[in-house]
This record gives sequence, structure tokens and C-alpha cells, in this order.
Amino acid sequence: MKLRKFIDPLPIMETKKPEKRSRRNSYYEVEMKEFTQKLHRDLPPTRLWGYDGQFPGPTFEVTQGETAHVKWMNQLPERHILPVDTSIHNLASQPIVRTVTHLHGSVTKPESDGYPEAWFTKDFKQTGPLFTRKVYEYPNNQRATALWYHDHAMGITRLNVYAGLVGAYIIRDKKESNMDLPSGEYEIPLLLLDRSFHSNGSLKYPTQPEDASSELPNPSIVPAYLGETILVNGKIWPYKEIEPRKYRFRVINASNTRTYQLYFDNNHPILQIGSDGGLLRKPIELRSLTLEPAERADIIIDFSQLKGKNLHLKNDLGDGAAPEDETHDVMQFRVNKRQNGKDTSKIPNSLSTIKSLKGNQVKAIRKLKLIGSEDEFGRPLLLLDNKKWHDPITEKPRLNTTEIWEFMNVTNFTHPIHLHLVQYQVLDRQPFDLAKYNEDGSMVYTGPAIPPLPNERGWKDTIAAPSGQLTRVIAKFSPYTGDYVWHCHILEHEDYDMMRPFKVIKADED
Ligand code: C2O
Ligand code: CU
Ligand code: CU
Repeated sequence: MKLRKFIDPLPIMETKKPEKRSRRNSYYEVEMKEFTQKLHRDLPPTRLWGYDGQFPGPTFEVTQGETAHVKWMNQLPERHILPVDTSIHNLASQPIVRTVTHLHGSVTKPESDGYPEAWFTKDFKQTGPLFTRKVYEYPNNQRATALWYHDHAMGITRLNVYAGLVGAYIIRDKKESNMDLPSGEYEIPLLLLDRSFHSNGSLKYPTQPEDASSELPNPSIVPAYLGETILVNGKIWPYKEIEPRKYRFRVINASNTRTYQLYFDNNHPILQIGSDGGLLRKPIELRSLTLEPAERADIIIDFSQLKGKNLHLKNDLGDGAAPEDETHDVMQFRVNKRQNGKDTSKIPNSLSTIKSLKGNQVKAIRKLKLIGSEDEFGRPLLLLDNKKWHDPITEKPRLNTTEIWEFMNVTNFTHPIHLHLVQYQVLDRQPFDLAKYNEDGSMVYTGPAIPPLPNERGWKDTIAAPSGQLTRVIAKFSPYTGDYVWHCHILEHEDYDMMRPFKVIKADED
């Protein structure tokens, strides 16, 4: 089934309304529900799961210093809409439909962080071993930035997210609001997702790896998944009518496995002003913007010279990708609206100050291998430092100390590595001889350490760790102690088994 492109207008998610709000506190209730929604003019409605019955969920808008209390409620049916592999993580002994919401990129206490084993079922009837509270608390004491919320339940995150459990969350602060960046209708979140469909409109997701042998459990987890269509804010290949002026886009890659290399068909510049954790020091002009799963970019596009033109946001799939691959296209911009008043927005040359963590005393350097192996069925089993989720906790940074984490990727592909609780800084990447490593296990560098790309020189919570390279990040573990996780954000990897716990411990604890 071939769907025509640029048929539906780009939806803008609703802003989430609090039940109560005072100056320092707000209270929200969100219901996860099953519903159907039209994702394309020519596609029958799709059965989905979504926060407040929407896909993507409503966008939170909070101010720095406002504590947001959110009751995430599971009102989902007992059956999953997708085939669930219960052969992993002991899932056969647990309820199938389990959820727990994580606010990605937030600095939050462990009880509110959406620990994968803090899941709950409908009406909190059953709860996971680490469940402690129904109402989550987000202090929002961090920089203004775009976060996103998504499901994080153990061993089933890829399916819960694919079913639709995603949404955007924007933190504002005074400094940024005083800056005259494009705002209001000129500031637009763009949530990028890829999905495949059956002709009846239902979501398509494989039940087996492509080269499945009959020995495999059925259904069986797949090691990666790329959807056949690209959705922005829940519509397949949408278009947006705009004015000839500057716009600000908050781009979030909410896809399971897919990386985007975004560019415009006319090579129009993309001005990146912010990364995962907020504004960069200065704007960076790009012709192509790479976003791994879970990465965000705050970008400005100046359409003022493009009156009457149509622009296409494209996705460079790299050499070797078939030119007819439909996922080269993302969306269309039509610069056909009358300009409503003068564009008074400004992009300052100096956006923010970011103090380098390099000057901090480093308490530990952890070398962590990203490595492939096989499970008892011969399926790929990807691991962090050769350990499974259930192995004892090995990463225990002390509160308020700074550490360097080095991701040594000995697999054949890039893994986007995410840490909860912290925003870190990227130090560098150094290439090593992977063939030699595979031969005899030795680490031989083949070149000098390369500094991060200009647009990676801000606060990050997810970073590409490419194959055959040592990617180094530096983080200060504060302000909370307790149980968190770090993982590859390719959701098919996170579920099996590229996720590990880490625990921030007190200064005098072992
Ligand atoms: Cu989007 Cu554990 O994260
Ligand atoms: Cu996260
Ligand atoms: Cu991975």
C-alpha cells in the first residue's frame, strides 16, 4: 500500500492542562487509553495507545521551579495491541499490559523516574517490585529545554512506545523567555516517529526476526525495527503552511530504532540553538542534523527569503540506501501564508554559558563495553559491559562527584547511550581497530581522540557511540541518590538487554 505524501496538515499536540496550579506547584492527571486515530487521509483509523487518548500525548508546558505532580494512570485493556515476546526477562510470569512513565532528560528523584520495574497495571491493581508511588513529582529545577515522556516498562518498552505512548514536555525559564526567540504559533514541536501499517490501518510490527528459525519463541523480539513511513506529530508525511519568517522547532526523535539525518531539499541552513539539555553556547549552522533515537534539537529555520516556495525536510539514509526508499521524506513546508506582522524575533550570538566539567576532580573512570552476544535460541543479545539487567549493580557513583564514562563499542553499529538523572558533556571519541579487537581482544587506537561535533558541545543525555570508537562523556552525579538506569535508546536493544541499573550512593556509603 502506497500512501501519498504531504496530504495531511501537521497536527500540533494539545497543551496539557493541570487540574490544579499554584505558583510553585501544579497537579496533572493523565490517562493511558486505547483509541483509534486517523494517521493519514487514505489510511483507515489506527488502533493506538496514548496518553489522554492522543497520539502523541499532550505537550506539557512547565516553568522552571514549578513542581509538577503527575498521576499517570493506566486505563488500557488487558490485551496488548502488538505481539508480546514473553520469553525475555521472565515476562511469562507477569501481567502483559504493564506501564510506567519516564520523563526523559529530567532531573528527578528515583521514585518518580519511571524505573522499569516500578510498572503498574490498570487502576494500579498489580505493581512491579520497585513501584512506590502513584503520583510522580518533577521538580523542574533544570534548564529550559524540551524533554519527552514515554513508557519504560521492563522488557516491553519497544511495544508500548510503538503502540503510541509518547509525548513532549517543555520546560521554560525566564532567561529564555526574555530572549525574543520565535514563540507562540512560531514555535512548533516536531516529534519524529516511524511506523508501518497493514492496509486495514492497524500497526504492523514483526513477530519474528527476518531470518527466524523455527526454534525461536513465537512471538520473538527483533533486534531492530525501521518503520516504512515517517510520522511527524502523529501524521504520516504531513505538510505545514507557514509564513515567510523565522520559526523555532523543537525536534524530538521518538522513534524506536531509526536515526535521522535531516536536511532540506534546497540545502537551506538549519540553525541549531539547543541540544538535549537546553541552549548551546552559541548557534551552530548546519546543512544536516543527525538525531539518534531520543536525541532532541532546538532549531531555528528562517523562511523569510522563501516566500511562495515549498521546502521538503528530507532524511539522508546514507550511501547504499535505495533511492526509492520512501523514508527519505519527512515532511513539507509551504511558505504560502501572509506574514502576520513583522518578525521581531532575534537569535542572539551568545545563547548561554555552559561551564565545562573538565575542571572537576574526576572520581572514577568507567570503561563500559557495548558488546554483542547470543541467547540460548541463537538470537542476538546485546549487552552493556557483558552484563545483563539482572546482574548486580556495578556502577555506583557517589553523590556530587564527577565521573567519566567511556563507551567502547565493539559491535558493528552505533548505539545511542542514555543516562537517567544527569545531563552530561561529551569529551571526545577515539577510533580503535575493531578487527584487531575481534581477533585477540586488544585495544589499539587508530587515531587521535576527536572532539565532539559543535552541536554536541552542550548538555546531552543521549549520545551516539559509534562502532569501533571509544566515546567518552563526563557527568556530575547530583542532586539525588538512589536507583536509576542507563541504556541504549534503540528500544529493541534496551529491552534485550542493553540496559543496566546504576545507583547514586551517599558519600560514605559502599
Ligand atoms: Cu528515554 Cu530510559 O529513556
Ligand atoms: Cu531517560
Ligand atoms: Cu543499541
